[in-house]
Amino acid sequence: MCAPTYFEVAYSINPWMDPTKPVDHDLVLAQWQKLHDTYAELGHKVETIEPQPGLPDMVFAANSATVIDGRVLGARFRAAERAPEADHYRRWFNENGYHNVVMPTCINEAEGDFAWTGRYLLAGTGFRTDPGAHAEAQEVLGVPVVSLHLVDPRYYHLDTALFVLNEDEPNVAYYPEAFSEGSQRVLRRLFPQAVIATAEDAETFGLNAVSDGRNVILPTESTSLAAQLATRGYEPIFVDISELKKSGGGPKCCTMEIRG
Ligand code: ARG
Repeated sequence: MCAPTYFEVAYSINPWMDPTKPVDHDLVLAQWQKLHDTYAELGHKVETIEPQPGLPDMVFAANSATVIDGRVLGARFRAAERAPEADHYRRWFNENGYHNVVMPTCINEAEGDFAWTGRYLLAGTGFRTDPGAHAEAQEVLGVPVVSLHLVDPRYYHLDTALFVLNEDEPNVAYYPEAFSEGSQRVLRRLFPQAVIATAEDAETFGLNAVSDGRNVILPTESTSLAAQLATRGYEPIFVDISELKKSGGGPKCCTMEIRG
């Protein structure tokens, strides 16, 4: 995770970002700290990277690497404003004992568009990550990749439209309308038991959730999705993300999952 020390909405690269709307700086720090502490209280090990001035979106750690079995595939951002983030994260991995870091040649916004199900990697394209990055991820990480097409600009990253609930018995929650017809059919085929989210669940950023297989951390407003998850035996845990959402981000965006 990366503290939102320099967080602001200075430019607009997705429909949620309005640089004329003020951000409450103390509030975003408190919201991020709460998310951080929630993971720690659940027993997860949380590591942090030093935030950098001039990189307001660096708080969205999910976008900077995909790590599976200790193999690290870095990022290459579409927007020039975010491009320098990739190298800071690459350096973090090198300094923390990961010597196997590969930097992508195609546009690759990492866990923003890649979701590990425990068996294969779901990979989004349409707005950010290039389809070529899907093939690159398959080769570098050595996992089967399933490409999915995103069609709604509000759900510009895969992690705004889908999250993995469980890796042992792979299952997901997703908002079908964010995907092309063909990709919806793929998802129905792969996950007949999926939790199907509503437009409201998606708008409240409920799909930008983080599940550890039991606890699901999701935004305060995503109450109906939380109720659906509870009936499936998951434990919803709410966090307030009002300020992060002004940049089009939520709990998952702030969280890179390092799979040793
Ligand atoms: N403002 C950031 C952007 O548009 C938000 C990134 C959110 N991250 C994510 N994993 N969806 O790039």
